[in-house]
Amino acid sequence: MSRDISGIPSVDLLGEQIAAVLADPTVGHGLARTLRAAAKEVELSRYHRASQRAYPDGLDERPSKVQIGGGSHQLDGFFNIDLVPPADLLWDVREGIPLQSDTVELLFNEHFLEHIDYPRSAKGFAREAHRVLAPGGRIITGVPDAAFVLNGYPAAPKQTAEMVERWYSKRSCRGDINTFLDLINYVLRDQDDDPTYTPHLWAYDFEKLAQLFTEAGFSKVEPWIFDPTLANPKREWASVYVIATK
Ligand SMILES: C[S@@+](CC[C@H](N)C(=O)[O-])C[C@H]1O[C@@H](n2cnc3c(N)ncnc32)[C@H](O)[C@@H]1O
Repeated sequence: MSRDISGIPSVDLLGEQIAAVLADPTVGHGLARTLRAAAKEVELSRYHRASQRAYPDGLDERPSKVQIGGGSHQLDGFFNIDLVPPADLLWDVREGIPLQSDTVELLFNEHFLEHIDYPRSAKGFAREAHRVLAPGGRIITGVPDAAFVLNGYPAAPKQTAEMVERWYSKRSCRGDINTFLDLINYVLRDQDDDPTYTPHLWAYDFEKLAQLFTEAGFSKVEPWIFDPTLANPKREWASVYVIATK
């Protein structure tokens, strides 16, 4: 950890040093790729630290409905928590959910869980969800369905083309998905160099989601019937959703 002039470890100074190294055109691809990931974490930690400073004693709000990782799909009537704007609270839930225990009725998240590391953050998130939910409260979780792509292998070129079109048509990696196995790789471990995309760090199916939430203490985990008035309509295809009850 670098230090500022007062001797206090400074994440911001580290960010400046990373930017300076990245500006050097002779930096190799491997180091640059790692540093870009570190620079992104530094940037994200700015939002998180600002919220920590703004709420040193925790949040006053006691929202009954909360969305985590909604991105641009903010939900009316929900308290929206995300790493980046727009959101009601900018917060990194790898550091916990900053809400009172036993207070939330409904937690909603989709296409978020696969972006946090497993097991530390994913299992921590499930435990935190269980903590903040009121008795009988529920969490709805949707992710890309790993079973959908794995069951499709080996696939006809037409099937590959449909999935590439639906999921990756706007991505810079589109031209590099050349076989169905490339597609499986993207679903399981999306590692696009495009800094606007956060990688997929773990893959889930119904069994894994049920295990994750059961281990965290939930009494019941069932399939959730997709409801486009709540979920992002574009997520319906090839996703798996569960609803877990505390
Ligand atoms: C792929 S987007 C999905 C957005 C939206 N749920 C949807 O389905 O359209 C993933 C979202 O999760 C958020 N996210 C990822 N890691 C997070 C974390 N550690 N804490 C809070 N939000 C996170 C990202 O900022 C992003 O908005």
